[in-house]
Amino acid sequence: MNRGPVIDFDHHSQEFNADPDSAWTKLRESCPVVWSSHYNGFWVVTDYEGNHEVLKHPEIFTSERWPKDDGYGTSFIPKTTPGEKTLPLEVDPPDHIGVRQLLNPLLSPNASKAMRPRIAHWTTRHIDAVIERGECDLVYDITSPVPAHITLEWLGFPLEHADETSTAFHDMLGAAPGTEVSNRGFEAVLLIFELLRQSVVARRAEPRDDVITYLIGCEVDGKPMSDDDIVNLCIVLVGGGVDTTTSLTSSALVHLNRDRTLRQRLIDNPELQGPATEEFLRMHPPLATIARTVRQESELRGCTVRPGDRVLVSRHSANYDAKQFENPQEFIPDRFPNRHGSFGLGPHRCVGSHLARLMFQEMLGQILGRMPDYEIDESSIDPYPDRGFAQGWVSLPARFTPSGG
Ligand code: HEM
Repeated sequence: MNRGPVIDFDHHSQEFNADPDSAWTKLRESCPVVWSSHYNGFWVVTDYEGNHEVLKHPEIFTSERWPKDDGYGTSFIPKTTPGEKTLPLEVDPPDHIGVRQLLNPLLSPNASKAMRPRIAHWTTRHIDAVIERGECDLVYDITSPVPAHITLEWLGFPLEHADETSTAFHDMLGAAPGTEVSNRGFEAVLLIFELLRQSVVARRAEPRDDVITYLIGCEVDGKPMSDDDIVNLCIVLVGGGVDTTTSLTSSALVHLNRDRTLRQRLIDNPELQGPATEEFLRMHPPLATIARTVRQESELRGCTVRPGDRVLVSRHSANYDAKQFENPQEFIPDRFPNRHGSFGLGPHRCVGSHLARLMFQEMLGQILGRMPDYEIDESSIDPYPDRGFAQGWVSLPARFTPSGG
């Protein structure tokens, strides 16, 4: 049986993080499926076809914690997901279908479009707060708090906690694991769990027109959800809605800081901003990788995978696979087709993708419209330290021509 080539590959190492693009390219071009000896061993899948095979076959590659009681779920290697089972991420079909059916109508294309006025409101309000100053931190003043306010208002979470929520998720991803900032982020997220729990109790007593109230009234397989299930589901919605969209927008702003011709093209042709969203997603996927666990022996691109094996699929790498994308290093605003995997594939494909695109397009459109000459101070910006998992920018100090609003 072929266990595949064994290599020394660690996507959390300093060496990898010095240049993730080159590390992924080298791996993809040498062998798309390899076994890494780190973290008790795991498969690494870097090509587009391999990504498809894993993510579209939950009967072989499970998102559940495996073995069921104490195994690893949908999380990043080497860590397991903390706390209780995460809904709907750590549930396989057919059980997954019931939970997913609750979320689909909440985040459908039409439901997301209906949120457009609130998306515009929060974006305008945050840009208004800095526009006369002529300088701001694009992350802390705009790309981080705007998605947080939109998502939390929609959920029905107390908005006075929006800033600490966005900072908590940003700190968790934007700082190296184990550092003071990252630990502060984890502690703040625990507090958010508690606040969400209080919100669920409050809505049971006094229903409102919000997502928490909707979820309280929902049944999965004929049974109402427990408070724990609702809190876990909400934390995935907050986590999904908050720092991912932040990273995408921040990465696009850095990209346009470096490519002024493209920036001008998007300003002169705003109709290009929609299709260009897909190209920003392809080139700068906020979540670079995701993990699965093998539940039944199978062949994966010529290698034998066995129950309990962990598998890391790199969406970042698949998005640069030249077999799928011609000239993958080139930014083509209207690339078509553009079947990137940044929202995932298969049953767990991101349910918030429509909302994410709208939030991104509103922030980008307003920034290009109102601060078209923004200049990021590139000497003081740092990418997220652990880009084997999440990619983005810690902070983006910038200057621009001030205006009266
Ligand atoms: C640019 C922004 C976003 C990116 C790149 C992104 C990415 C992803 C990816 C890759 C997955 C699949 C995970 C897996 O296969 O295990 C996912 C799932 C999910 N996302 Fe997003 N996401 C974004 C925005 C959002 C937003 C705005 C929301 C909601 C407010 C959201 C909610 C979710 C949920 C609930 C799931 C779980 C779906 C399921 O398990 O069926 N995401 N997201």
